[in-house]
Amino acid sequence: MSILEQLEELKTQAVTELDAIDDPKQLDLWRVQYMGKKSRLNEVLRGLAALSIEEKKTVGATANQLKLELESALKEKELSLGEKVISAKGEDAIDISLPGRKPPLGQLHPISQVIDEMCKIFVSMGFQAVEGPEVEWDYYNFDMLNIPKEHPARDNMQTLWVDYENEKGERPMLLRTHTSPMQVRVMEKIKPPLRIVVPGKVYRYEAIDATHIPMFTQIEGLAVDKGITLADLKGTLYEFARRYFGSDRKARFRCDFFPFVEPGVEMSIECIVCKGAGCRLCSNSGWLEILGAGMVHPRVLEGVGIDSTVYSGFAFGMGIERIPMLRYGIDDIRLFYGGDLRFLRQF
Ligand code: PHE
Repeated sequence: MSILEQLEELKTQAVTELDAIDDPKQLDLWRVQYMGKKSRLNEVLRGLAALSIEEKKTVGATANQLKLELESALKEKELSLGEKVISAKGEDAIDISLPGRKPPLGQLHPISQVIDEMCKIFVSMGFQAVEGPEVEWDYYNFDMLNIPKEHPARDNMQTLWVDYENEKGERPMLLRTHTSPMQVRVMEKIKPPLRIVVPGKVYRYEAIDATHIPMFTQIEGLAVDKGITLADLKGTLYEFARRYFGSDRKARFRCDFFPFVEPGVEMSIECIVCKGAGCRLCSNSGWLEILGAGMVHPRVLEGVGIDSTVYSGFAFGMGIERIPMLRYGIDDIRLFYGGDLRFLRQF
């Protein structure tokens, strides 16, 4: 059979087969078979160079003609099947049967999620959520919280100074070491009765390791009214622990010292890992400390012009990162701020 006869036969075969196709998915297979790189037609076209000049003319013309005919037959078929398929060159390549590309969706940072959850609990108990400045005066961070210049409690809070007091005695400015200065700022503006929570970033000059970073998050709480007692503090925080950690988790209070409360306490919950039996996480004590609290010191109340013989209040401050670390068994606080999406996407 001559090449020309072969091409003629190929044409009949290709056209018959194309006619029979009724599924757009088969068009590509057909195209590969009759017009693809390994097709007989392509083989003929590539073999032209080896032919005599005479043959080149006739075979070349017929083969090219056949190629054009097959291309237009394919186009027609595509249209009649009502669908465009991806052509080998990628032109007009729209496959409407593919699902669309979803734009990447962001989500709240795990710490923001914890803040939201905690605020919801306190708001449902009548607290209002407010925020305050992270760059703070030494006056609010220390002085007004009963921590005067020479007080040793200042040494415990590794302060990052923005502008230390100069020779002219101008006010020193710092990055707040806790959210407690907001107690004072709020009481300056709002007269009791008041109930607020303040979530936000705080800063301490600390060496970085698995449990320490120089920037972390706290949530402060403050309630001031006539007749507030330590029982109100305990009731509020027990209720918080019950709602946040579950009703089966015990909580306890013990004495602690903070210059701006009297008396001062710390609150612990039963260890999340060993449930009180004692393990490495809780240093075999069975308890995990989660916050500091106490009755607002009369000096703090008097400092903002609230009569401490009429009003009393309680305050608490809780580190936030530790809570999801305990809940999910995260052993390195740096993961929260490393920006690694493989970590962040898990929340
Ligand atoms: N501000 C204290 C701290 O950062 C916590 C605290 C807040 C204690 C309110 C008592 C009352 O350690």
